[in-house]
Amino acid sequence: MNMYARLAGTGGYLPQKILTNHDLEKQLDTSDEWITTRTGIKQRHIISEDESIVSMAEIAAKEALKNAEVNAQDIGLIIVATCTPERAFPSSACLLQERLQIPACPAFDVMAACAGFSYALHIANQLIQAQQIRYALVIGSEAMSRLVDWQDRSTCILFGDGAGAVVLKADNTPGILASQISADGQYSKLLYTEKGNNQALYRGYIQMQGSEVFKIAVKTLSHLVEEALHLAGLRSDQLDWLVPHQANVRIIEATARHLKLSPEKIILTIAEHGNTSAASIPLALHQGICDKRIKPGQHLLLESFGAGFTWGSAVIRY
Ligand code: UT7
Repeated sequence: MNMYARLAGTGGYLPQKILTNHDLEKQLDTSDEWITTRTGIKQRHIISEDESIVSMAEIAAKEALKNAEVNAQDIGLIIVATCTPERAFPSSACLLQERLQIPACPAFDVMAACAGFSYALHIANQLIQAQQIRYALVIGSEAMSRLVDWQDRSTCILFGDGAGAVVLKADNTPGILASQISADGQYSKLLYTEKGNNQALYRGYIQMQGSEVFKIAVKTLSHLVEEALHLAGLRSDQLDWLVPHQANVRIIEATARHLKLSPEKIILTIAEHGNTSAASIPLALHQGICDKRIKPGQHLLLESFGAGFTWGSAVIRY
């Protein structure tokens, strides 16, 4: 009998501190008008000193487990997508496993930058389809504010912090209809972090050739969403929601136009969250489900693009 991964529950966490464009105007040569028109971002949440990507992941995961009505003891796989882990090891996933008292099971981090959640979801989907596990906890948790140079107006205005979580369960009916991931390392010099110093290990600041990244993102995502629909056997008019990675509203709208999808069918969080990297898709998914826009039986297309370059997609029947 075929087995599929179904979305059983979602959760999210955003730090309390909010940094608005107007706040940034006071410390940088920028303006609310520039940031809003070029990116769609109005504010972002900033992690506090006593929080970590694991503490944020814990809150999001507990909410996802509660909404899924699944016990932590039943989880058979933990994947945390992050490019801002607190430590090289143990992995964030193992630290989370301890906090949630999840019994022995595979637990590891995935580092695929802004496409991290797509990677984690794809791996969990494969393991559920292969009937290796029944329940998976898949999380994106990021502290991007600790990775940006707050003097660099071309990058620091873009990013925010937060965590999103989903619980997947094995089921006889789909679920995730198709998922795919890929990468092309020849573009590694267009978006990267500097080497950093001994203290910070790999924690150098983000460097980005923004307009080049923008053009390749739009082109790659156009192909990606077409391929995703083809793999799922759906037409774009059968899609109910686009749940995209939130890097730039102009990139998202270009992808929606390519799909001939009206703007009302996009779950957008970028204005309030900024780019939370691997956390952006699960946070958007959680928002759409919480406010009841996403309804059972509907078709969702998730897509992401990030440093590497990396990219990924999933088509889901909720
Ligand atoms: O999530 C991972 C993937 N990341 C992305 O997908 C990001 C893709 N790139 C982008 O979203 C856009 O390229 C940005 C939002 C980063 C930049 O927008 P842009 O329209 O490509 O602007 P630009 O970099 O070409 O810069 C235009 C001008 C420049 O001034 P000059 O050279 O024309 O005089 C910049 O110096 O805007 C200037 N600028 C700013 N001005 C005010 C750059 N940053 C700012 C700022 N405030 N914060």
